[in-house]
Amino acid sequence: MFSLSRSDFGSDFVFGCATAAYQIEGGQADGRGQSIWDTFSATPGNTHKGDTGTIACDHYNRWPEDLDLIADGGFDGYRFSFSWPRLLPEGTGAVNDAGIAFYDRLIDGMIERGIKPFATLYHWDLPSTLQDKGGWMNRDIANWLADYAALIGRKFGDRLHATATINEPWCVAFLSHYLGIHAPGYRDARAAARAMHHVLFAHGSAIKALRAEGVGNLGIVTNLQKCEPASDSEADAAASHLYDGVFNRWYLDGVYKGQYPADIVEALAPYLPANFEDDMATVSTPLDWAGINYYSRSLLTRDPGNTIFPVKAVEGPLEKTEMGWEIYPKGLTDLLVRVSNDYTKLPIYVTENGMAEVDMDDDPRRVTYYEAHLKALLDARNEGADVRGYFAWSLMDNFEWAEGFAKRFGLVHVDYATQKRTPRTSYRAFQGMLHNTR
Ligand code: NOJ
Repeated sequence: MFSLSRSDFGSDFVFGCATAAYQIEGGQADGRGQSIWDTFSATPGNTHKGDTGTIACDHYNRWPEDLDLIADGGFDGYRFSFSWPRLLPEGTGAVNDAGIAFYDRLIDGMIERGIKPFATLYHWDLPSTLQDKGGWMNRDIANWLADYAALIGRKFGDRLHATATINEPWCVAFLSHYLGIHAPGYRDARAAARAMHHVLFAHGSAIKALRAEGVGNLGIVTNLQKCEPASDSEADAAASHLYDGVFNRWYLDGVYKGQYPADIVEALAPYLPANFEDDMATVSTPLDWAGINYYSRSLLTRDPGNTIFPVKAVEGPLEKTEMGWEIYPKGLTDLLVRVSNDYTKLPIYVTENGMAEVDMDDDPRRVTYYEAHLKALLDARNEGADVRGYFAWSLMDNFEWAEGFAKRFGLVHVDYATQKRTPRTSYRAFQGMLHNTR
């Protein structure tokens, strides 16, 4: 059990848990279109054991049980994502009424249970038809995303508590177009540079479209990595700063300052889209809150073999999760304080935090992980960061992208053969804290 109580966070603090459409829904029937994750995961070599999200947690059919788990856990909010190809099978144009009906049921189900809907428009399942037109490499993605955002605003906007445009733009752009680990699996500097700009230009365009539909409480969810030099050499300090630039500063500077960091612009100069500067007012369209996903830190050293970004991560000495990520709660404190001091005074939500653990129902290490990060969040608040909420990743085990079903992040265990859900000790720890209103 946690040594913390709900009252340590104040009465308005939102505790939630998070998921994403492709990772849990399944439900290919009823007119859902194909996404880049359908094709990417079906291509041998891209995911662990060829796992796909075709069925995943069958949440499309089992959503009432899943919402009951959220409510019984005592959570105030649920962060979920809309599936773009379920709503617009071709990405633009014709609307799939069955998709609208599904999210109507889901959102109404949250409200009936007293759960605040925190929605994400884009959590990586790009309609394949849009990838065929270049996807994030095509500047038109800003119009496609804005039209999709307007549809969501019209159909659901009055019932959403908060809405994020993009989940983890670094993953959308760099991990998927430069490192090639996520769909569409490109390894190309020009593709990456274009995606890095277009993802933020599209984000700003979607914010404008949502505001035009009268939707408020809008933000973006950036994933931040604490970057630290592997040694006290000047070269490693520079490497760490560069990595921080491509991982964190590009997105934070763009969204909250309207200007990309000069060192990264210089590194990517040959590849960036022409006249990107003209879009910066849209990139930095004012928001209502800042979302931050935090998992770990990276230790960086110079890598002269890499011409564009001469930096690489080395293995660190700290205890690691099943993802191989170091457990480093202080990084959360540091990043929250940094965002608050250097970037924005908007309310901050920790929109994801959690750990992959070996498959067990009693998961004391995960309880310790959560407790340490919740304390780190309180430390950041003591240092002045205006943090208003915290979302555990994830409600339940799910399709962990390239890692397939091998990595389990759930507060709730999922048996994929039977789809049986079993709450773990970590779920009980949240439940104990959240039902205790001391
Ligand atoms: C961030 C992503 O938003 C989510 O989809 C993923 O499962 C978790 N991190 C864990 O890697």
